[in-house]
Amino acid sequence: MSKSMNIAVIHGDGTGPEVMREGLKVLRTASDKFGLSLNLTDYDLGGERYLKTGDVLPDSVLEELRKQDAIYLSAIGHPDVKPGVLEKGILLKLRFELDQYINLRPVRLYPGVQTPLKDKGPEHIDFVVVRENTEGLYAGSGGYLKQGTPDEIAVQESINTRKGVDRCLRYAFNLASSRSRKQLHLVGKTNVLTFAFDLWERAFNEIGAADFTSVDRRYHHVDACCMFMVWAPEQYDVIVTDNMFGDIITDIGAMIQGGLGISASGNINPEPGGVSMFEPVGGSAPQFTGKNVINPLACIGAGAMMLKAAGHLEAADCIEAAVAKVAGELPGLGVGEMGIGTDAVGDKVAALVAG
Ligand code: IPM
Ligand code: MN
Repeated sequence: MSKSMNIAVIHGDGTGPEVMREGLKVLRTASDKFGLSLNLTDYDLGGERYLKTGDVLPDSVLEELRKQDAIYLSAIGHPDVKPGVLEKGILLKLRFELDQYINLRPVRLYPGVQTPLKDKGPEHIDFVVVRENTEGLYAGSGGYLKQGTPDEIAVQESINTRKGVDRCLRYAFNLASSRSRKQLHLVGKTNVLTFAFDLWERAFNEIGAADFTSVDRRYHHVDACCMFMVWAPEQYDVIVTDNMFGDIITDIGAMIQGGLGISASGNINPEPGGVSMFEPVGGSAPQFTGKNVINPLACIGAGAMMLKAAGHLEAADCIEAAVAKVAGELPGLGVGEMGIGTDAVGDKVAALVAG
């Protein structure tokens, strides 16, 4: 495997650049230690650029991003930009254009980290959500009729293709079969969404029975899943679900693992030559810009996921172990709860990685 990687870095808006600085600090430390050569290129995308130039994601930039090995993104979002412009124009566009059909969100409570769940510890909270990332309600299918009149109709359709569902399920089955519990929950709503989740359920059972007989297949409705995630999260090993449900349940996942300060995610195109994008789950939190109070561990963890996806397992594990240790030692993981600044948290992780 190549030890060199071309990485596009999107520093983003608000507090994005502050956490990215720490993410890159740790990435550079790890690449020195493990002999990787990371070729980083900065891309100026986000609210600031949009307000200055009107550019959201120029085609020329998209074409350059296609040629990278991976994208490392902090957070995009600006209080002066109308909601939806940057989300749809940058984040969702990159997910769709680069066919990053898996959104991978590990939910793991590290020892010493506080969870809001009473009597639950690291042994109860250790699962991964595989969220379909290019279809469902996010596909942008629908429209208005008679917009702005009393008879207005707005339709927003959930698109579920057999191909899209199959490839997502196969990824989830493969992941489940690589873990010791080998358990996979499909999360859906087969009792109401009887077209979409019928397709999901049939595909789930067909693929499981044909190719993954070692994986224990289970099903939960999404409302029950929300209940179990806070009441008995130890039920879960791997969860696979559609785009919208995955968006919602992974916010619960983030909170039970200690909050957005520690939650990392990957938008993955698992195909050969696919370009994947790694980001913290949290947003740009612009009200805290420059205050050095945002937790960089989620962004650092996203960097570890990026190295892992590229096959640099030793470096990835080393960063993850350092993140876990620092997380467990901090008094809290929320904004301003860390007792030390954003930069000092990054220094601690980097020092552990350097060894
Ligand atoms: C996420 C975010 C995005 C999503 C938004 C910002 C478009 O909430 O990554 O979970 O809905 O996917
Ligand atoms: Mn979300």
